Amino acid sequence: MKETGNRIPKSADIWIQRRDEIARKGARTVAKADRSESQADRSMGMLGAAFGMLGMQAVVSGLELGLFEQLAGGPATALQLARRIKAHSRSVGRLLDVLVTQGHFDRTGDRYRLSKAVRGALSLPGVEIETFCSDMLIHLKALQGAHPGLTEAIRTGQPAMSLADQAAAERFFVSLARSLFVQNYPGACALFEATRDEFGEGPLEVLDVAAGGAPWSMAFANGNKSARVTAVDFPPVLEVASHYAEANGVADRYDFLAGDVRRVKLGKERFDVALLGHICHSEGAKQTQRLLGKVAKALKPKGVMLVADFVVDDQRRGVDGGAFAMLFALNMRVFTPDGDTFTFKEYRQWGKEAGFRRFETVDIPAPSPIMVFRK
Ligand SMILES: C[S@@+](CC[C@H](N)C(=O)[O-])C[C@H]1O[C@@H](n2cnc3c(N)ncnc32)[C@H](O)[C@@H]1O
Repeated sequence: MKETGNRIPKSADIWIQRRDEIARKGARTVAKADRSESQADRSMGMLGAAFGMLGMQAVVSGLELGLFEQLAGGPATALQLARRIKAHSRSVGRLLDVLVTQGHFDRTGDRYRLSKAVRGALSLPGVEIETFCSDMLIHLKALQGAHPGLTEAIRTGQPAMSLADQAAAERFFVSLARSLFVQNYPGACALFEATRDEFGEGPLEVLDVAAGGAPWSMAFANGNKSARVTAVDFPPVLEVASHYAEANGVADRYDFLAGDVRRVKLGKERFDVALLGHICHSEGAKQTQRLLGKVAKALKPKGVMLVADFVVDDQRRGVDGGAFAMLFALNMRVFTPDGDTFTFKEYRQWGKEAGFRRFETVDIPAPSPIMVFRK
């Protein structure tokens, strides 16, 4: 990206033009013009971003007030909920309406209930409403607490919150792994369905690298009763994977390999499929290249590596899910020394260097498609 020096950013230019326009024409005329403006113009520039933060606070408040737990017990009106949580009823109504627009709740008449997506997440084996809420809260508050460090992280190139030491990383990753199981399991099932012809039946050795709660391999273990999984992660995080494996009735087909993915031995030509779910972004470019090489060696000659991550379009313009991936790169600036998000072109090139000859993508319900690397 080009340096802009001291030039005022474009968004600020637009804001200044807009202020002058309001002064010139009068608020009434501008208000009329507003109605025909594009969605982007109506997003209110910098103020829109500020209110994005308020949107995050709305979820945090909904969790802190126990609204998710209350609605897990069945539909209710704002007044009923306000009485139960001992809060101001009109304010509760306003919060509930925002949580409906965000897709967490649905509303029919004056009654609210958990949205289909949230009810679906809560129906997954091993997921309970109390831990679902507390894990989400821990995760969101960690993000809220760390993100103000972005300015300093940009200035210094150093993370604001270091996960460099293993103890800090493990604490953070345990609740993250539980939240991400809920988040990633539906996409993992879509991936398994898309690859069922290839991996749906018969013996299958699966390697789940940086498994977390193991959502990706769980979809394969549930779908193919002959699949065996080796899940790699830090020891306390593997307890989360073990919990979900038990709940899904597949624990007898899971082996847990505890350790740092940079050091742990994965062996040679052992696996048919390797799953790398959201590990490359925190490893950074150099370590990701090393990891792809190590995984390539651990795969059988016809083995396949499937990589889930937030991927940026080649021009880094933020199209096709790239905008989220670009924002996520800032998250990596805050939390990690080398973490980043990468383009399809970079992944394709690294795959080639690691010994993969073919590269494809599979669309799943996630910000970016899954990348498929074949030897
Ligand atoms: C973002 S989570 C993804 C978890 C899971 N694969 C998923 O997609 O839901 C990243 C995972 O990588 C693990 N991890 C990060 N660095 C690691 C390392 N150096 N060695 C082993 N595991 C690591 C974390 O403990 C965490 O479970």
